[in-house]
Amino acid sequence: MGKKADIAVVGLGVMGENLILNMASNGFTVACYNRTTSKVDAFVDGRAAGKNIIGCHSIGELITTLKRPRKLMLMIQAGKAVDEFIASVLSFLDTGDVIIDGGNSHFMDTARRMREVESNGLYYVGAGISGGEQGALTGPSIMPGGSAEAWHIVRPIFQTICAFTGDGSPCCDWVGEGGAGHFVKMVHNGIEYGDMQLICETYQIMKDGLGLSNREMADVFGRWNQGPLASYLIAITSHILTHQDGDGRATVDRILDVAAQKGTGKWTVVTALNVGQPLTLIGEAVFARCLSALKDERVAASRIFWGPPARFQGDRAAAIDDLEQALYASKIVSYAQGYQLMRAVAAEQGWHLNYGGIALMWRGGCIIRSVFLRDIKQAFDADPDLVNLMLAPFFKTAIENAQAGWRRTAALAIHLGIPAPAIGAALAYYDGYRTARLPANLLQAQRDYFGAHTYERVDKPRGLFFHTHWNGNREATASKTPLA
Ligand code: 6PG
Repeated sequence: MGKKADIAVVGLGVMGENLILNMASNGFTVACYNRTTSKVDAFVDGRAAGKNIIGCHSIGELITTLKRPRKLMLMIQAGKAVDEFIASVLSFLDTGDVIIDGGNSHFMDTARRMREVESNGLYYVGAGISGGEQGALTGPSIMPGGSAEAWHIVRPIFQTICAFTGDGSPCCDWVGEGGAGHFVKMVHNGIEYGDMQLICETYQIMKDGLGLSNREMADVFGRWNQGPLASYLIAITSHILTHQDGDGRATVDRILDVAAQKGTGKWTVVTALNVGQPLTLIGEAVFARCLSALKDERVAASRIFWGPPARFQGDRAAAIDDLEQALYASKIVSYAQGYQLMRAVAAEQGWHLNYGGIALMWRGGCIIRSVFLRDIKQAFDADPDLVNLMLAPFFKTAIENAQAGWRRTAALAIHLGIPAPAIGAALAYYDGYRTARLPANLLQAQRDYFGAHTYERVDKPRGLFFHTHWNGNREATASKTPLA
């Protein structure tokens, strides 16, 4: 019998292959398997050649190659394929073995799978992995959750192959029970959607509103990358804007303006709707992708509808500074909303999420990595029960300082007829959140008027419900519960 493997990885897609190479370069012996076995041979003879990587042609062979307790990591497409693979592998495994799902599975599926796998005497880990192909190869952010007993089994590998912050902290830690790891990864992806949309809005305002060239915009993003907005997404945006095709024309100008999505942003928003959290910015980011997909309709409508004739006449440099403020303040709102969602779902699921720890996991390796997450970590370290990120003294001051530029940017976009739904949603959320009395009194009156749905009163204790006979006498009827 040859050398035993520390872990098995199933699925030789881009992420699977790179993760295996990462593990191998960190001293682990990795067994790999792919349903189309020619991929195994190609990998073993190609990128994996000469490394501690064992190619296997059947699940049985894969299992016998592993040290105990066996660690079997799935890097396959989320959904049915994961259930099918688990069903096919259960009979090969023994008590205490661990199945790990490293894909972008829905957290409720992961919670269900954990229960099923545990009922067979095994452990289950749903690990969110972020960083794209480069991250997988050189150090991703890893967000594991599931069977708590499995953490000490997978930890030595995960906390070796993951990314590290500048001060040496691993961007991987135990998130919590059930689907907690995949949930935090899903929120990461939702925030990724928000960050990308905000950047795209500033790009369009600079391009179509202020008339900046790609080179000029690359310089602006490059400059922003030196300040509080410094992040992977700002850095790659600057790089993208300088990239040219072989004929010297800008690549970005030739890319069709139709955004794709695999679904994790939508899941984040649906989850927010299910728990009643106002995740407005990420919602706008998802819908902006949906609107972009209506390309033919938009092209037709562009010949029918006219926007304001306004042209930008002002100080371009000042408008760019305002844009930076708008991006920064909107980003604060987006993360505040994402953290509110995490808090609400954690309460529902009984998870004790470490909010500062989550910011730390996102500090390196992942797509949303940024210096901004250092400030978020500090805010939650200072007050783990922080109700809303905007209330942390650091962010309260940051919003105060950015507010004037933020409002001028939103107004400029409206004035010029350039869509900026995420910046606008962020500002509306901020204004809504800081408004002690919203117009929901009128809304409640409307509900009571047409449906006798009752309302609470400002001159009576909370928990008492009233119905007014809107077309009859002026007295309201009180009840302990809403009537309808
Ligand atoms: C990551 C990314 C990744 C995601 C892609 C594409 O953290 O590495 O979030 O998991 O799948 O970025 O996502 P969309 O196709 O939905 O844009």
